[in-house]
Amino acid sequence: MPIRQVATTPFADQRPGTSGLRKKVPVFQQPHYVENFLQSILDVVGDKLRGATLVIGGDGRYLNRQVAETAIRMAAAAGAGRILVGQGGLLSTPAASALIRASGAIGGIVLSASHNPGGPDGDFGIKFNTANGGPAPEEVTEAIHRRAAALTAYRIAAEAAPDIDAIGETRLLDSIVAVIDPVAGHAALMETLVDFPAIAAMFAAGFRMRFDAMSAVTGPYAKAIIEGRLGAPAGTVVNATPLPDFGGHHPDPNPVHAADLMAEMMGDAPPDFGAASDGDGDRNMIVAPGMFVTPSDSLAILAAHAHRAPGYAAGLAGVARSMPTSRAVDRVAKRLGIPSYETPTGWKFFANLLDSGRITLCGEESAGTGSNHVREKDGLWAVLIWLTIIAATGRRADAIVRDHWAEFGRDYYSRHDYEEVDSDAAKALMAALRDKLPTLAGQSFAGLTVAEADDFAYADPVDGSVTPAQGVRILFAEDARAVFRLSGTGTVGATLRVYLERFEPDAARHALPVQEVLAPVIAAAREIAQIAAHTGRAEPSIIT
Ligand code: G6P
Ligand code: ZN
Repeated sequence: MPIRQVATTPFADQRPGTSGLRKKVPVFQQPHYVENFLQSILDVVGDKLRGATLVIGGDGRYLNRQVAETAIRMAAAAGAGRILVGQGGLLSTPAASALIRASGAIGGIVLSASHNPGGPDGDFGIKFNTANGGPAPEEVTEAIHRRAAALTAYRIAAEAAPDIDAIGETRLLDSIVAVIDPVAGHAALMETLVDFPAIAAMFAAGFRMRFDAMSAVTGPYAKAIIEGRLGAPAGTVVNATPLPDFGGHHPDPNPVHAADLMAEMMGDAPPDFGAASDGDGDRNMIVAPGMFVTPSDSLAILAAHAHRAPGYAAGLAGVARSMPTSRAVDRVAKRLGIPSYETPTGWKFFANLLDSGRITLCGEESAGTGSNHVREKDGLWAVLIWLTIIAATGRRADAIVRDHWAEFGRDYYSRHDYEEVDSDAAKALMAALRDKLPTLAGQSFAGLTVAEADDFAYADPVDGSVTPAQGVRILFAEDARAVFRLSGTGTVGATLRVYLERFEPDAARHALPVQEVLAPVIAAAREIAQIAAHTGRAEPSIIT
């Protein structure tokens, strides 16, 4: 019997968030749990799947291979025409997005929990991306949830999946399963966007770089592109082998979790450039010798110099940033005479702007930058654009940052996170803050005067939809800003994020300690939101 029909009962918790269904590994290990969710995705795609192409791959974490094989057998049972699978079941999130677009696929099943820890006690995730290469919009994820809640059976090929380590095509039921090199297509795409010859010449002349792949999926991509195609010395890419548990580390590229890279870049005789990427390869971290580059500054610098890369030589149509991201990129857009959009936190809000051609580049303070080449953020892409800029300007990365500040002014920026706060206390804090918004303008706190205060609502210029209550913005007359929102990705209690920034136009004041410059903004933010009174915390748990 070629297809097995298996009776099942629904799981009430199969409701995907914006980044798919993300749970602890043991949850996914319950009998039928994975199959139920995959069947719900396939059912929502429905008849359109018959004969169509479907992409499958993930970040290599624990369960990746097993779930990739199950997905292949179920997609075949559902009548997919062509199933494209990355070798070993691997595909970085941006590579999956690019592959969906390039192959004309109906969508893709991406196996990842992004920067969350992996392994038997870590996290796993299943996400569905649609034909534009981006994460499924809410109508689709809600339909998947409704289907999951009513599921009584799933269908799976009785036969085992073909060997996903062997590149080539095999027939399974009426489907062709094509196991492909997960890197080649993305490397070729990068070559159309980035100046490979200029970067290769720079490495040949002795440029030194450290790329920390954090034992996650970007390893094979970075090895093939940076060491292979661009000729960087062997060993430039470290932690390059994807491990099911990421070597026990938290594959989140920030100064806390990429501590070894930070230590090297802050030490004596650092390499010329440092970078890291997260579990599934969509986030990036940029470190210049002696200097961490904030994602907000990185976005502004990429926008200012993008024209130096072949893929953006014609200039940018526009740029976008999430609301809590610093306003540095707005200053570049103004100078370039292009629009700058402010969207809520979450990559999905960029999709309409990219699809409609309103923007070319976008990014978020949460370490994501990307462009219209895919509908996800792309960590390695950002690193390669940085290398192109360094090659084109002949300046070291830290000099590029200082030059940028000298030209546009510096947006001093920091994020204060209050983690594992009691959920009710965090909600009460936000409610009280929202209540006092109408009365804040004109009042002074810690020597700063509130000019405007609101709760950010986003009106999408493409489809006209309005998304309210996306975070509180307090603008001070002294060209400073404080933003408050609750994290949408935390797992324990609530995380209050406070984003603090202050603009400094004077180049003589661009090398000051960040927390010192921001001290009045920090004090004002704490007072306005009554953070200590609501949370019982005098200080944040993490400052980045
Ligand atoms: C995910 C999304 C990002 C978003 C981030 C916000 O990583 O892919 O687009 O910026 O979550 O996380 P937060 O914890 O601040 O809600
Ligand atoms: Zn990620």
